Amino acid sequence: MDEKKGQFKVRDLKSANEGQRRIEWAESRMPVLMALREKYRKTKPLKGYRIAGCLHVTKETAVLVKTFVEAGAQVSWSGCNPLSTQDDVAAALASDGVPIFAWHGMNVQEFYWCIDQTLAMKPNLTLDDGADLIFTIHNKHPELATTSVIGGTEETTTGVHRLRAMAEAGALRYPVIAVNDAETKWDFDNVYGTGQSTLDGILRATSVLLAGKNIVVAGFGHCGRGVAMRAKGLGANVIVTEVKPTAALKATLEGFQVMAMEEAARIGDIFITATGVKDVIVDRHFKVMKDGVIVCNTGHYDVEINIGHLKKLARSVRTVRKDNEEYRMKNGRRIYLLAQGRLVNLAAAEGHPSEVMDMSFANQFMAQLRIVELHKKGQRLENKVHDIAKEQDQEIAKLKLETMGIDIDRLTKEQVRYITDYASGT
Ligand SMILES: NC(=O)c1ccc[n+]([C@@H]2O[C@H](COP(=O)([O-])OP(=O)(O)OC[C@H]3O[C@@H](n4cnc5c(N)ncnc54)[C@H](O)[C@@H]3O)[C@@H](O)[C@H]2O)c1
Repeated sequence: MDEKKGQFKVRDLKSANEGQRRIEWAESRMPVLMALREKYRKTKPLKGYRIAGCLHVTKETAVLVKTFVEAGAQVSWSGCNPLSTQDDVAAALASDGVPIFAWHGMNVQEFYWCIDQTLAMKPNLTLDDGADLIFTIHNKHPELATTSVIGGTEETTTGVHRLRAMAEAGALRYPVIAVNDAETKWDFDNVYGTGQSTLDGILRATSVLLAGKNIVVAGFGHCGRGVAMRAKGLGANVIVTEVKPTAALKATLEGFQVMAMEEAARIGDIFITATGVKDVIVDRHFKVMKDGVIVCNTGHYDVEINIGHLKKLARSVRTVRKDNEEYRMKNGRRIYLLAQGRLVNLAAAEGHPSEVMDMSFANQFMAQLRIVELHKKGQRLENKVHDIAKEQDQEIAKLKLETMGIDIDRLTKEQVRYITDYASGT
């Protein structure tokens, strides 16, 4: 481990060059965020502001961090999952002088130690993926919420759900913008990003053939829909489990088999949870699974598959390959758990492709900038969870289309008049 007190703690500084090359690769695929970097490089609108971030340390995140720095911000960073940090990327950021505290394979205690290190700079803004940083401030350092923090942003569904609950209970002490809920984030990152990278993670950890397999996807929300769609494209028989009638109906009309987990557990070959809810797969499901099944999770926390139950049922556990553990049941059946039940796309693969993170992180940048610009005008959002501005969504989508060389039509004045003409009929 390489450490400089108060400055960084990363796995191996010698891997910085490799990390730097991977960051450059991501930069070449993130034109919208790079355009924002170019736009704000000279004016430095974030100068004088300190941002603490707690989000997966990937090459794409590094592009965001560097964009904040170029726009004048002081940044400190930790990873939001013990298994998702790309050590070479963390080393590259540390070499660049970014205070970063993150390494792959840390334990939970170390995870919170890292968050604490990022708070030493007394941030003005927080950037979360799962709200662990915000919770740490509220629970351990509440004074920061009133003395230095002016606002925060949240990247993922699970974090947004919890922060909305916190705001409703009157417990949220500073405003947060729900970047997750932007159309250019939720409908792209969670669908196409999670869809592709989850299968990427499963393939890297198993290298199995997906065609012809019964793949059970728990949850047909944004992430689950993406996973189901991509699995179907690779020739799998996709089975969806749901708790929400409309989501189950959508899955049915998309041509997927829908059934309860009790039933799916008996016939599935690969199980993927994508719900954001705990105990989706528990002991009664493990007990009826076939020999050799693969189980993994792509929801935010490692609670969707009850690993405690799996351990109790197992007679032995061994690692069969990277990110793949074999649990042998008392009757000899084997169940393979990937990435210890943590986000399989980030733990066993590299997370979402850069192209999709381009939009998510452009939203993050714009949302942080909005909080700062309001602050400069002496204004502040209410202590609630706020949506991103609708115009921002369209602007980011427009920029993305331009970088893809796609032109679209524009409404004529006549068409605009027609849409709002409540006097005309047939
Ligand atoms: N792997 C990643 O990189 C990644 C990326 C984005 C989001 N996420 C996480 O994935 C999870 C899902 O996010 P989303 O945006 O798809 O949320 P969503 O709200 O769009 O969808 C979740 C779906 O799960 C269903 N569900 C809830 N409990 C269930 C249960 N017990 N069984 C079956 N279905 C159930 C809900 O009805 C809903 O349709 C969240 O934890 C989110 O933070 C992960």
